[in-house]
Amino acid sequence: MQFVLILHNLVRWAVLFFGLWTLLNGITGYFGKRNYTVNDNRSNLFFMISCDIQLLLGLILYFVNGWSAKLKDLGSNMKDPYVRFFTMEHLVMMLLAWILVHIGRASVKKAATDAGKHKKMLLFFGIAIVLILASIPWPFREAIARPLFRVN
Ligand code: HEM
Repeated sequence: MQFVLILHNLVRWAVLFFGLWTLLNGITGYFGKRNYTVNDNRSNLFFMISCDIQLLLGLILYFVNGWSAKLKDLGSNMKDPYVRFFTMEHLVMMLLAWILVHIGRASVKKAATDAGKHKKMLLFFGIAIVLILASIPWPFREAIARPLFRVN
């Protein structure tokens, strides 16, 4: 499972890179009133794919590393901030972000005008990125700290 954890750690940077690229395109597109281009489409497609890979890796870790088993004794486990984070908070917030990314991409595709597409990009992907940034176990978050890069 260590290999999956290393991958999950690494793919986080791809998620953030494509997410911020998408958001930047949304901002410059909406406020700069530009056309919706192949570059806009590519950025949010890659963002969605990286989130899909991250979800898959996360689910493997969740079930194989025993986090899901902790749901049984919820009362006492929820008192421990470390266990609560990986059993509930990280899962729920990241799933929410993943859903927003998928609904976001579908509604960007559906929007009739280029301004509408950029507006949807800003809204859905913007909220998703905020949720993702807030739910990463950054090294400065004492109780749940994990490394920026993992080698073993
Ligand atoms: C964009 C989405 C996500 C990002 C950016 C993300 C990021 C991370 C990071 C950086 C870690 C720490 C890795 C390490 O210790 O080196 C982690 C751990 C973990 N993540 Fe995620 N994650 C995401 C989605 C998910 C999802 C959807 C799930 C569950 C279904 C999940 C389950 C886990 C679990 C269980 C751990 C702890 C693994 C362990 O130590 O056993 N993650 N995540």
